[in-house]
Amino acid sequence: MVDIPISAPVAALRRVRAVRYVEPLREGGSLPGLVEADDLGTYVVKFSGAGQGPKTLVAEIVVGELGRRLGVRVPDLVFADLDEAIARREPDPEIQALLLASVGTNLGMDFLPRALGYDGRSRPADVVDAARVLWLDALTVNVDRSWRNPNLLTWHGELWAIDHGAALLFQHTWPGAEAFAVRPYPIDDHVLGHAAGHLAAVDAELAPLVTRELLEQILAIVPDAWLPEAPGTVSVAQVRELYVDHLAARAAASASWLPAVAA
Ligand SMILES: Nc1ncnc2c1ncn2[C@@H]1O[C@H](COP(=O)(O)OP(=O)(O)OP(=O)(O)O)[C@@H](O)[C@H]1O
Ligand SMILES: [Mg+2]
Repeated sequence: MVDIPISAPVAALRRVRAVRYVEPLREGGSLPGLVEADDLGTYVVKFSGAGQGPKTLVAEIVVGELGRRLGVRVPDLVFADLDEAIARREPDPEIQALLLASVGTNLGMDFLPRALGYDGRSRPADVVDAARVLWLDALTVNVDRSWRNPNLLTWHGELWAIDHGAALLFQHTWPGAEAFAVRPYPIDDHVLGHAAGHLAAVDAELAPLVTRELLEQILAIVPDAWLPEAPGTVSVAQVRELYVDHLAARAAASASWLPAVAA
């Protein structure tokens, strides 16, 4: 069963300083990199200067921290500060350009050493774990958990969720954002679709946990500079409120989007 404290208090992310850029994780589309930090930790860093832009980092924080409170294993997130000197030391011109564009705050994820990519061929040990990931993906409309691109790791025999940058569709299309609350979530291509039979039970457990208060605490973690502009807003506080509104409305409407499962 899940050994994660559900609804653990939301704390600000720790801040570390990058001391060495180790290597790129080439399979990642946004060219995330492995970085050593001044706390002796090793992190997978998603760079603020990457082509996808900071909205993907907003989604990583919001979905990752939400998942953590819903019993989904997500590697610890940190803010990783990058100095220009480290960027200048990088010999590969493509990576140097990315690092130079990312001097300042970036998002780090605790690196899980020797984790295996979950490929969907072997089922995870705990189907309730899988159903929780599936429910989180349905809530946040995460399209990046397909058979082709599962974005799940197996580490010490347990399932860990990574890469939530593609979720929160509404932040890319604000004008149609109201439809987000009831948008159905197709699971045909979802790598954990086999757990769909447990969704109703997981929905009853998790939907009430997604309160406005929790969402406000999580949005407070997101740096002002990463929040996008949104129509009709004049302050970052209003932008944060929009995220809270859309996610709270969707959590309250799970009957509309919960994938239908044949009995
Ligand atoms: N915390 C972690 N611990 C160990 N390995 C990781 C971790 N995070 C990512 N990886 C590895 O790095 C790869 C790329 O990471 P991720 O999928 O987050 O990057 P991305 O650029 O968003 O990728 P995508 O191409 O799916 O958009 C993963 O497939 C995984 O193999
Ligand atoms: Mg990925």
